[in-house]
Amino acid sequence: MSAFSAPPDEYLQANPREGHLVWDRFIRVFHWSLVASVTIALISGLALDATWSRLHLVSGTFAVALVSARIVWGFTGPAYARFSGFVPSRQQVVAYLKRGTGHMRHLGHNPLGALMVLALLALILGLGATGLAALGSGLKTGPLAAILPASQGGVWSEIHETAALALLGLIVLHLGGVIFESRRSGENLPRAMITGRKARRMGDIAAPARTAHPIVAVLSVSGLLLVSALAVTDLSQRPLSNPPVAVIPPVYSAECAACHMAYHPATRPAASWQVMMTGLQDHFGEDASLPQETAAQISTWLRRHAADTTDSKPATLWAGLRDTTPVALPDTAQWKRLHDSVDADTFRRAPVYSRSNCVACHADAETGWFSPFRITLPKEPTP
Ligand code: HEC
Ligand code: HEC
Repeated sequence: MSAFSAPPDEYLQANPREGHLVWDRFIRVFHWSLVASVTIALISGLALDATWSRLHLVSGTFAVALVSARIVWGFTGPAYARFSGFVPSRQQVVAYLKRGTGHMRHLGHNPLGALMVLALLALILGLGATGLAALGSGLKTGPLAAILPASQGGVWSEIHETAALALLGLIVLHLGGVIFESRRSGENLPRAMITGRKARRMGDIAAPARTAHPIVAVLSVSGLLLVSALAVTDLSQRPLSNPPVAVIPPVYSAECAACHMAYHPATRPAASWQVMMTGLQDHFGEDASLPQETAAQISTWLRRHAADTTDSKPATLWAGLRDTTPVALPDTAQWKRLHDSVDADTFRRAPVYSRSNCVACHADAETGWFSPFRITLPKEPTP
């Protein structure tokens, strides 16, 4: 079948003046749902803070699900949906570029448009994968939590963010291409993506006829959803390898949480705890000394569950601390960088009083997790 064949009968509608049906209903719903979900995912990911991450996860997951369904439709859908009908060979791309603007009109995707479609689909899948990797490593949540170490968190989020910016760039190019091609062909392409129809003209290049198999498509997508849901559930339930220790012994709460919150062992490395526990008689200007046996017991527990043997993002932040006299975390460069955005006054006011009072803003501080989802800045007290 040549690419110049007449449109297949199934696309000749009852009223031919309405135009030639190019984009089937799935493609149209897919296209505009993808516009909506990608817009929400980009805004919530690039412009909004961590409190919007649930919306980011939902919209991003939805975009990936849409793309997966689109890929299935690319093998089971009607003529213009099929990859075999629009994925161009290298020669076709070169020929298309050489012909400049004088070439004939493709009713479906032209070779450059087709490359854009493939790049957008691939990039969105890549964003899904790197997003899961960042979530699993940095935040120890989701299906990859037990697989990827927290130390990879920064790298994955950087790749994810770079890919998001690349997607933004491609979207701008795509819009440019749509405007250019709408002008050149005198056909409103965004409207065609709503009605699905384009005016049929002499010399238009139609896609080779293909029969759609919607039942096969629905079964494949359902199967894919089921397998992904099972895989995600199974992987998400795997135990983490070295999470922050969850059980705090009573002797620690009794002896070390009288003057301040109970600092989790994963907030500093074993060597740093060693330094602190051997100098309790001069502990930040206070005498915090303990009977030798109690001190040894606490010291052993702290060092066993210290930052250098814990797999969590905050632990990786402080695992490299090399203090020779005890240092408070707020005096470290890492801590200052993280809290750059917080107004210095907030730390002095009630109910925080001290930068070391982590638990005033981090609801999960005593678990050692310091999740960005558990941060709340206390309200300014009303006089
Ligand atoms: C007599 C009161 C007192 C006792 C008891 C005490 N501390 Fe402290 N600790 C302080 C003070 C004061 C600071 C300085 C930071 C601040 O302003 O809260 C501090 C700071 C710390 C810090 C650094 C906080 C940071 O921001 O990184 C750690 C860790 C710590 N203490 C651990 C312990 C441990 C472990 C014990 C038990 C062996 C203990 N403390 C017992 C008074 C005490
Ligand atoms: C006045 C409130 C406040 C106090 C007190 C505070 N933090 Fe934070 N912390 C924040 C805020 C707000 C952020 C998020 C900053 C941002 O994203 O720009 C943050 C971010 C963090 C993060 C990064 C979380 C992530 O994964 O994105 C860590 C880790 C952290 N703080 C640890 C600590 C520790 C340890 C202490 C105590 C020694 C502490 N914080 C005390 C408000 C506070």
